[in-house]
Amino acid sequence: MSQNQISKPHQPRAQWKSPMGFILAALGSAVGLGNIWRFSYLCYENGGGAFLIPYFIALIVVGIPLMILELGLGHKMRGSAPMSFAKVGRDWEWCGWWAVNCAMYGIMLYYSVIIAWCLSYVFFATDLAWGSDPNNFFFNEFLQISSGPTRMGDIRTSIIFALMGVWGLCWFIVYFGVQKGVERANKIFMPLLFVLISVLIIWSVNLKGAHVGLAVYLKPNFELLKTPKIWIDAFSQIFFTLSLAFGIMITYASYLPRKADIVKDAYMISLGNALFSFLAGFAVFGTLGYMSVTLNVPVAEVVKESIGLAFVTYPQAISLMPGFARAFGVMFFLSLVIAGLSSAVSLIEAFSAAIIDKFHYERKTVVSIVCLTGFLGSIVFTAKSGLYWVDIVDHFITHYGLVIIGILECFIIGWIFKAKKLREHINQHAQKDRLSILWDIAIRYVIPLVLLILLTHDIIKEISSPYEGYPWAALIGIGQHWLGIALIAALFVSMRPWKKELHETEQHD
Ligand code: ALA
Repeated sequence: MSQNQISKPHQPRAQWKSPMGFILAALGSAVGLGNIWRFSYLCYENGGGAFLIPYFIALIVVGIPLMILELGLGHKMRGSAPMSFAKVGRDWEWCGWWAVNCAMYGIMLYYSVIIAWCLSYVFFATDLAWGSDPNNFFFNEFLQISSGPTRMGDIRTSIIFALMGVWGLCWFIVYFGVQKGVERANKIFMPLLFVLISVLIIWSVNLKGAHVGLAVYLKPNFELLKTPKIWIDAFSQIFFTLSLAFGIMITYASYLPRKADIVKDAYMISLGNALFSFLAGFAVFGTLGYMSVTLNVPVAEVVKESIGLAFVTYPQAISLMPGFARAFGVMFFLSLVIAGLSSAVSLIEAFSAAIIDKFHYERKTVVSIVCLTGFLGSIVFTAKSGLYWVDIVDHFITHYGLVIIGILECFIIGWIFKAKKLREHINQHAQKDRLSILWDIAIRYVIPLVLLILLTHDIIKEISSPYEGYPWAALIGIGQHWLGIALIAALFVSMRPWKKELHETEQHD
């Protein structure tokens, strides 16, 4: 089938009500658990301030140019990720499906479970339910963690109730569509998140000993920059935190009006998201400094399990606080829930929009089925082995899936579609900052090369020492299969015909 045979939707494509509505929704997608939970534990693992250097380099070299690519592509093609790639050439449609499959049936399944943990912790914070040993509470009482990823154990019914709430809320938002659902929800979520996080930052940096944590956060240890791990972590974090290679930004940009300043929007989303992470780091490291001084241990030893930073170290810090500890705890976990929900909504929307574009089913039916199957699928992460599975799937999807999709995007747009053509489309409506040929060079050469080097390093490292010492059977059985199944499903769906014949829906220059 030729690229012209891709269908035109029955209805005119949905549009954001206002430019600010789009920015808030895209920021809502970018700002998520990744900015608080993931960013802070990566910073902690990688020497605090040292991590900020590769993080900002990754943002400039890969993050912003790819954000421009995805927004430009979605805007030009006016389609979800599979539709946009299919319009470049039917042979590339699978890449779009792979992205949205990874987002929906990879990331969203465990992401929703982490939001459910946070939601549970909002309630636990009201009476400091974790008691004097938050480590034991989180791992043994709450998760009842098994001895390893291959020992699944029972499903934790208490987590399922919270999980149901998370999926129910997401369903309710996405069900009502782009303007009445996603845009409206983000207009509430984002200002609320901003207020909550501002209060938390001011509170944290004023705690006794906060300066000790902030010194670790802001003082780089240049020695660490010599380790490949810090670079690999920073680049994969940029994909995760900016929601790149998930198909989300392509989909969100497809709802923009013709006259959209893609470059300005890409800067606002990327820099706004980085600023949020950077500021949230003050709250986390301020609190770690407080713990370090109160317990009289160095900041480097305050956290035992970095992945449990939010659920072990934070509760411990909250319990140590002199006044309003409960209020602090509720606000912290509530901000995680809100940040998580606004991203979860975008993960569901990217996948649902792809199905709607291709098969022309009713949005309400699609969203209901997607959320129901998503909820059922995510139950696997509530088993006693759930935390290991979260860790393994997150590692494989962010380190390999998103990075490979990023390389593919550069190849398809840079070489097949031609970066210059997309740049000219984007520049049509760029007001102040127009793209130069440097962007083409970044897309065609620099980004694929950097990502390939990192990917090779990552694979070599993986082979020489399996991730976190997990058994190979678990890494291949869970992580690699997850990626593989998402790819096979992508290839399969991309071979199905488009429901409606033909017609261009592209934006014409
Ligand atoms: N961008 C989202 C996050 O950082 C997925 O959590």
